[in-house]
Amino acid sequence: MMKTPLADKNILLGVTGSIAAYKAADLASKLSQAGAVVDVILTEAALEFITRLTFQSVTGRRAYVDADLWGPEGHIQHIRLAKEADLLVIAPATANSIAKLANGVADNLLSLTALAADCPLLIVPAMDGGMFSHPATQTNLNTLRQRGALIIGPAEGHLASGLAGPGRMVEPAELLGQIRWKLAQGGPLTGRKVIVTAGGTQEPIDPVRFIANRSSGKQGFALAQAALDLGAEVTLVAAPTPLPTPFGAKRVVVETAEEMRAAVIAEIGQAAALLMAAAVADFRPAGPAKEKIKRKSGVPEVKLETTPDILAEVAELRSKGEFSGVVVGFAAESQELLENAQDKMHSRRLDLIVANDITAKDAGFAVDTNQVILLDAAGNHQELPLMSKAEVAGRILEQVLRLLK
Ligand code: CTP
Repeated sequence: MMKTPLADKNILLGVTGSIAAYKAADLASKLSQAGAVVDVILTEAALEFITRLTFQSVTGRRAYVDADLWGPEGHIQHIRLAKEADLLVIAPATANSIAKLANGVADNLLSLTALAADCPLLIVPAMDGGMFSHPATQTNLNTLRQRGALIIGPAEGHLASGLAGPGRMVEPAELLGQIRWKLAQGGPLTGRKVIVTAGGTQEPIDPVRFIANRSSGKQGFALAQAALDLGAEVTLVAAPTPLPTPFGAKRVVVETAEEMRAAVIAEIGQAAALLMAAAVADFRPAGPAKEKIKRKSGVPEVKLETTPDILAEVAELRSKGEFSGVVVGFAAESQELLENAQDKMHSRRLDLIVANDITAKDAGFAVDTNQVILLDAAGNHQELPLMSKAEVAGRILEQVLRLLK
């Protein structure tokens, strides 16, 4: 399994008294599945909505309640939990708990532990819209923010009161992305900008038709996530794909090779690395029709012209000394894999090329796995077995880190 920033991290999850407590069970489950060690503290009010057994069942660990504060290990419980935590997440956080945290009130196991903790704090509010917008709550949240806490949400939508508005606890899947991002801060690419291109460009024939290719964008999006996992500041230049943006990445949406070129050139300034995973069209219709081509006008002749070669332009910027980052290219080939990949690496003056044989089973377009060979300009050659695109991305980033040194 792929190691993410969540692996082996101690996450302390505080659950307070809101109906959104059921979502906290899902969050605890997702965090555990991602390899985190999850300790849960429930308040008295949370126990009205959900049991400690629910959390123990998904984390495989003891969940704590106020009674533990007065038990045999009571005097050290909150200190131990606080000291061991890499991150304290309070989800859902009620207006009452937020008020306690802001004011340093320590009258239950969770608030005591929060006061003893010096790890990053994430607060995920859930309450009625009116309670959220009340100046008291807003002042408390501002106090916590100024102290460095990250407040996530609340989201807008249906509330338990029957009203609609801001107050809903942010969904566990989104929280997982935010927690992953938070834990990655301080990694080896912290403060470094990485540009990733992904997906297949679309070149218009007329306003409704275009020439596309089979790229799904999966490998590129996995690279963006892998760079985020190392703490990088990531710009993801993405051709059309329904894939969700990994939390923390800045997504720049483009359609054509020309738009991708412009986006890459605009972003490249201070980048430490450019990873060109996109399947950029080599040809486009010359002078696409302004109006829809009608069937009754007969079979049209679509004349093609070449698109800008983005990596060739980047090579030029490098030779002029206007860009000094690491450049990684991709070669998807159906024949003579190594020779073609090597040619591409040399002609575009790449530091590394990722070669994959698109005819191989379970590798290449649209699937979740890939089998690639990594070749670098110094002649190193690494043949990787079939693995997930996330793992491939991790291996490519390992090489980028090496090349950056
Ligand atoms: N690429 C690019 N600009 C283009 C076409 C491709 O920057 N207009 C990049 C791709 O993102 C990839 C690398 O160049 O990282 C190789 O792309 P590929 O299409 O395989 O290479 P070509 O040299 O165009 O070769 P061919 O089509 O002959 O296989």
